[in-house]
Amino acid sequence: MSNIVSSQAADHAKYGGVIPELASRLHQQNIVPIVDLALEKAGIQMNMLTAIACTRGPGLMGALLVGYNFAKGLSLALDIPLIGVDHIQAHILAHFIEEPKPDFPFLCLVVSGGHTSLYHCVSPLELNVIGTTLDDAAGEAFDKTAKMMGLDYPGGPLVDQWASKGTRAKYAFPIPSVPGYNFSFSGLKTAILYFLQENVLKEKDFRENNMADICLSVQNTIIKIVLQKLEKAALDLGITNIALAGGVSANSGLRLAVQELCEKRNWKAYIPDFQYCTDNAAMIACAAAYNFRQGRADRLIDAPYSRGNQKI
Ligand code: KG4
Ligand code: ZN
Repeated sequence: MSNIVSSQAADHAKYGGVIPELASRLHQQNIVPIVDLALEKAGIQMNMLTAIACTRGPGLMGALLVGYNFAKGLSLALDIPLIGVDHIQAHILAHFIEEPKPDFPFLCLVVSGGHTSLYHCVSPLELNVIGTTLDDAAGEAFDKTAKMMGLDYPGGPLVDQWASKGTRAKYAFPIPSVPGYNFSFSGLKTAILYFLQENVLKEKDFRENNMADICLSVQNTIIKIVLQKLEKAALDLGITNIALAGGVSANSGLRLAVQELCEKRNWKAYIPDFQYCTDNAAMIACAAAYNFRQGRADRLIDAPYSRGNQKI
């Protein structure tokens, strides 16, 4: 009914990354006006709510505590259930906000700023992780590349924009060999660092003069790393429904590559609408609805969790 997003990107940009303490303070400032606005836009009053949902984890503890305790307060005051939602489960279930919804079973590649995982999705509440990153997340690889290229935070969208102006992915970066359906991006980060150091020594403005082609080369490498695991898992498990989720699924190169892979293999691709790729309230509500229908609710003694790669 409404999906209001308060982004802190501009507040953190001047520091080149997220400052956790600042993030929780801004959450504290924003939460009441944002909830008011969401209710107003939806045209409903607080006493009409049947349950209250919020993110329980994983994420930054300070920010989670603000949201979770605010929701706890509302749940107590209105005497309605509190549904704490797993952030990754919500990214995957964002596919069920609007049509077309994927048929089960499907494989979901979750690529965000904090996570890169492959999920075998059997039903809305049976999402089994079959692979995960051993170090950095794909979004981090984008953001760190952007930083080394002198671009602002969060750099993922900027790398995407520059890459679309590139003519040729002429620089080669290594594709790591990682067992199973797991991923790794730390080698790529180091390779980019050395590559830039070497070339800037030879040509002072190397980065600026080749921005588009460097961004295109890095983006294509990240896409290759995730796609080869996605394809392998789909073939091994015989799954033909493929979904993409998380902030990095807004990347135009990745969206196209998943579509092309699915066309080539005659698989069905589910690419989320842009507004449901990066963090948003609708995906939390959607995931909560599935939990609510199963009678799942949080208790007053429950607490947020900052890390987690458990079966969700
Ligand atoms: O899911 P999300 O909004 O937050 C987390 O849960 O982490 O993902 C944010 C991440 C950031 O790393 C950001 O740079 C990346 O998603 N991102 C992109 C694009 N849009 C957002 N990365 C590459 N290309 C994009 N267009
Ligand atoms: Zn997210």
